[in-house]
Amino acid sequence: MTEPFLELRNFSVYRGGRAILTNLNIVLHRGEKIVIAGVNGVGKTSLAEAILGFVPFKGELILEGKPVKEKKDFKILRRKVGYVFQNPDNQLFMPTVRDELLFAPKNYKLPEEIVEKLFQKVVNTFNLTHLLDRPTFKLSFGQKRLVSLACVLTYDPEMLILDEPTNGLDRENWFKVAEFLKKSDKTLMVITHDRELISFLGWRVIYLSSLSFVTSYPPKEELKENLRKG
Ligand SMILES: Nc1ncnc2c1ncn2[C@@H]1O[C@H](COP(=O)(O)OP(=O)(O)OP(=O)(O)O)[C@@H](O)[C@H]1O
Ligand SMILES: [Mg+2]
Repeated sequence: MTEPFLELRNFSVYRGGRAILTNLNIVLHRGEKIVIAGVNGVGKTSLAEAILGFVPFKGELILEGKPVKEKKDFKILRRKVGYVFQNPDNQLFMPTVRDELLFAPKNYKLPEEIVEKLFQKVVNTFNLTHLLDRPTFKLSFGQKRLVSLACVLTYDPEMLILDEPTNGLDRENWFKVAEFLKKSDKTLMVITHDRELISFLGWRVIYLSSLSFVTSYPPKEELKENLRKG
């Protein structure tokens, strides 16, 4: 059996000192895609931020078979798992869109020719050429949403966690993002309320509900069946 890319075991998430999600069990293999849904305030964003190491949790977080516990482990995780914030204003901080797109790949010291390729691909995919020299703080909300997604793709993480990636997008940009997600070969966790997106993607959905939510994902029989099919 192949090793999961990311695994949460008996994972409980804490906000303000109290557990808001308890005993989550999620197994995500490389290339697997899931949707996380649930009502406002249930803890979807907190779950994502706990995985990234920004919010306290108890239980086990395992990346490629190794427990993620210390600062150095989260540093490795954040290189491999790109997170797009629910609110783009929490993510964007560079003076221009171009700087924003180039910040992470430079920070991770990716070779220049690779950065150039990734940059051009992302700019073309999301049609960002006209925005490149604009200050990020003067963009519209929808433009910020696209740039916040784009600037995670320029350093090519293996997995993406996207928090409400279609929120605030017009029809054309909605399709750009939805089609990008559908075609992507990355491991993906998409947090969304967007029913049209959920049905467009056709992926498995984990509905988070109330305090003591316990699940096993994927169900063991289903996992075996998938592995048999290759
Ligand atoms: N910084 C914080 N300190 C304390 N409690 C917080 C903090 N941020 C969020 N919470 C609380 O944690 C709970 C989960 O919030 P979270 O933002 O994770 O929910 P969500 O499912 O992402 O909601 P939404 O659908 O509105 O985005 C809520 O009750 C919220 O009030
Ligand atoms: Mg949220």
